[in-house]
Amino acid sequence: MGAERHVTVDVALRYLGLGAPTVVPADDQGRIRADALAEQLAASRGSGPAIVCLQAGNLHSGAFDPFAEAIAAAHQHGAWVHIDGAFGLWAGASPTHQHLVSGYQHADSWGTDAHKTLNVPFDCGIAIVTEPAPLRRAFGVHGDYLMPDAAGDPLDRVPEMSRRARGVPVWAALQSLGRTGMAGLVDGLVAHAQAIAAGIAEVDGVEVLNDVVFTQVCFAVRDDQRTRAVMEHLLREGVTWMSGSRWAGRQIIRVSVSNWSTDEQDVAMSVAAVRRAVEATG
Ligand SMILES: Cc1ncc(COP(=O)(O)O)c(C=O)c1O
Repeated sequence: MGAERHVTVDVALRYLGLGAPTVVPADDQGRIRADALAEQLAASRGSGPAIVCLQAGNLHSGAFDPFAEAIAAAHQHGAWVHIDGAFGLWAGASPTHQHLVSGYQHADSWGTDAHKTLNVPFDCGIAIVTEPAPLRRAFGVHGDYLMPDAAGDPLDRVPEMSRRARGVPVWAALQSLGRTGMAGLVDGLVAHAQAIAAGIAEVDGVEVLNDVVFTQVCFAVRDDQRTRAVMEHLLREGVTWMSGSRWAGRQIIRVSVSNWSTDEQDVAMSVAAVRRAVEATG
């Protein structure tokens, strides 16, 4: 896994009893380095089956791993490639932004969350696999009291037997948005993130730290102490929600534009709030 994987991927490994991951260095945007991945795979040749987990959408920078090169390297070593695309995989639904996921179609499995970019309620994780048979072998159940459906049953693909119909809101959202609506949703989130980045970059002392390719913006205000003070001011004031984090060795403020209803007015109000917070803490 890349050094900037999401923490839940480590949890998944622990849950599966697979232990700690082998970590591959990332570049300045948090993308796994395909050359380093190839080296790691070559070095671990013969040590057993490998799963390479890539990322579509870094929670700090929004960056996407270099899928074409990384997947080619992984497949050359016989590894299974999974993409954690919790919020970023949805870039593929936008003709304007699908270049970000270029090469992802060669992965063996994808994970994404409908409760993120698609905006359906918690909790609606989606796993998409190229080979359904192993999934059914792992999860499929048979009970004489059950009435199997020839089309397959949800309980054959997930750990739980009893679960609510999470697919219904997903279906409804996709149905009502259609292809163009879905693309518009993604494009709107990215446009608003980029507008926030452009707006706050004008504020004296604000430094936008990432390339704003998707929905995430990371910024700092001079040093760690001031950045923390600005964040606390923003949260106290309550006009906009931007949370603190650490990235690239610095205290940062993190913006994640995820809600379909965010509009130009919210962008303007958020930029104004940052300006006020910076002035108030100077
Ligand atoms: C890149 C990434 N992966 C995984 C997750 C975990 O998703 P969930 O909370 O739905 O398990 C997140 C959540 O923020 C994420 O941003």
